Parts: sequence; structure tokens; C-alpha cells
Amino acid sequence: MPETRPCNGCAATKTAAAKYETSRRSWLFKAGIALNAVAGVLFAIPLLGYVLSGLFGKNPYRTWIALGGVDAFPENNTRLATFRNPFVTAWDGATGDIPCWVRRLEGDKFQVFAINCTHLGCPVRWFQESHLFMCPCHGGVFYEDGNRASGPPPRGLFEYQNKVENGQLMINGGHLPNLSDPA
Ligand code: FES
Repeated sequence: MPETRPCNGCAATKTAAAKYETSRRSWLFKAGIALNAVAGVLFAIPLLGYVLSGLFGKNPYRTWIALGGVDAFPENNTRLATFRNPFVTAWDGATGDIPCWVRRLEGDKFQVFAINCTHLGCPVRWFQESHLFMCPCHGGVFYEDGNRASGPPPRGLFEYQNKVENGQLMINGGHLPNLSDPA
């Protein structure tokens, strides 16, 4: 039978180890709570801003964006234009470049359409010969004024508000136009 020796200080060592373990757990627990609180606040700030802006009628992610001089868009023509989303972050890269279709009727009268089909969001293409927008995904078709012509899309193309200022065509952009936009 192996000889057992009394261990001087073992009890004290065990107590110290248990105390260390308890304080480490408690520290980790508090750090976890603090991290969750910080993440919650970071998540809540933009959410609150969005909700409050909706309540008070002002959307912080909306601004007037120049698409270029009106002369770049011939009358009775539809042209593709691209603008840089002003609310991008550094890592958005090329996804911050937003295409849209610009239809100039005459003078300062324009229609600017979101490029995304109103069915599942594929980019629609303009066909000058037939004066139709067509969606390559499921065959959705839209008239030149953006109204739905046929296929699965439930409605016409979404349209940006626009205005001409100092010879520049401007759209109210920043996020996609939607149903709540004034016509
Ligand atoms: Fe255009 Fe389906 S996404 S028809």
C-alpha cells in the first residue's frame, strides 16, 4: 500500500484555486453581459433611428442625388444611369453603384425607374425596338412608363421621385423606392 503523506497547504491551495475559478467565471459572466449590452445598443441605434424617422416622416437614408446633366438624356429615350449610393460603407465596393433607368419624356419631364423587377428583384432590361422593359428571370414585362404589361410581377416598376435643378437631373434616392413613396 502506498505511503500517504500529509499535505501541508493543500487545503489552502484548493481554496485559492476555487476562489480563482469563481472570480474568473464571474468576470467572464460580467464581460459577456457587457458585450451583449454593447451589441444591443449598436443594433438598436440604427433600428430606433429608422423607426423614429418613419414616425416623424423623415427618412435619414434619403437624399437628393445627381444623375447628371439633363442633356445626357435625349428626349423620348430611355437610358441606363448609375449613381453611387451615398449611404455606403467602405467595404460595400461596387455594390454601392446603383443602376436605374431614366426615361426623358420632354423638357424637364422624366421618369426614373429602379432597375429591379417587382417580382423577385432581377434587373430588367430596356428594349428600344419594342419599347418594353423585360425581366430575364421569369419573363416579366413592363411598358415604357413602368406599368406592368405581363408575367408574374404584381405591379409596375418602382419609380424614384425626380426633379431638375441647375440643369442636373436629381433623384430622391439612398434606398430603393417603395410603395409608400409619393407618386
Ligand atoms: Fe422578374 Fe421574376 S424576377 S419576373
